[in-house]
Amino acid sequence: MTYQTLLVEDHRGVVTLTINRPDKLNALSEVVLTELKDLLTALAAKPSSEVRGMVMTGAGDRAFIAGADIARMAEMTPDEGAAFGQLGQAVPRLLEALPFPVIACVNGYALGGGCEMAMGCDYIFATEAAVFGQPEVSLGLIPGFGGCVRLLRFVGPGRAKEMIYTGRNVKADEALRIGLVNRVFAGKQEMIAAAVESIGLIAAKSPVAVSVCKQIMNELEGKTTSERMRLENAGFYRVFGSEDKREGTAAFLAKRKPAFPGK
Ligand code: COA
Repeated sequence: MTYQTLLVEDHRGVVTLTINRPDKLNALSEVVLTELKDLLTALAAKPSSEVRGMVMTGAGDRAFIAGADIARMAEMTPDEGAAFGQLGQAVPRLLEALPFPVIACVNGYALGGGCEMAMGCDYIFATEAAVFGQPEVSLGLIPGFGGCVRLLRFVGPGRAKEMIYTGRNVKADEALRIGLVNRVFAGKQEMIAAAVESIGLIAAKSPVAVSVCKQIMNELEGKTTSERMRLENAGFYRVFGSEDKREGTAAFLAKRKPAFPGK
């Protein structure tokens, strides 16, 4: 499938997704969001061993994504705004539902919807030039693509509230310190290489086990400790019935490398 605003490459099971609207700093219009929704829905339907991980980044050197499209939002009625918000919320939900890990590689601005898309990924790498923020209140808006929910999860309530109420920009070094990003790199090339390497490490593991871990960790929120334990135990049950578990444990005992079938 070809897209107007996305570049998609698959290199031996590692997908690179580039938001490609550089003249508008990769801002999220309805077209970008709809294409993302279509792509992620198609990727979710692939067999689990076919894609082992995805890197999500922005075209050019200036921005990952500079936010939701302000020119479009300026014209929207409350009903249209709410529908736009639902479309924007659906994308990080789809990222979270993918059966393989996704690493956000943030080059430049990740503001508003950009920060929200990055937080829908499993973890975030950034360049030294990266800038994060939820500046919506400066526009009379609020973070509406899951930002109020996920920023709290990444950095805790005090820091999330400060960032959202003040709308201030957070540079890469601070983002690293507060736990929003995992690692900071001098440039985009080193960052993408490190993300591909990280997916390479994951690709040597059981696809079933990795996807069950992702699912459990993304579904814990809002549950009691007992419910969380039950969720983890259901995952344990699931992997004990997998061919991957048979292969992984047999390979360990035979002192050989496992060849996981991904089932
Ligand atoms: N929505 C729509 N268009 C956007 C955009 C957004 N969120 N962010 C940037 N653009 C557009 C600009 O309007 C400009 O388009 P033009 O060349 O047709 O005028 C183009 O991208 C380049 O941006 P520009 O503002 O000229 O670049 P800059 O380097 O001077 O500033 C930013 C960069 C990121 C600081 C600035 O673009 C900005 O503040 N963007 C909005 C960030 C924001 O509030 N995001 C949250 C939205 S809810």
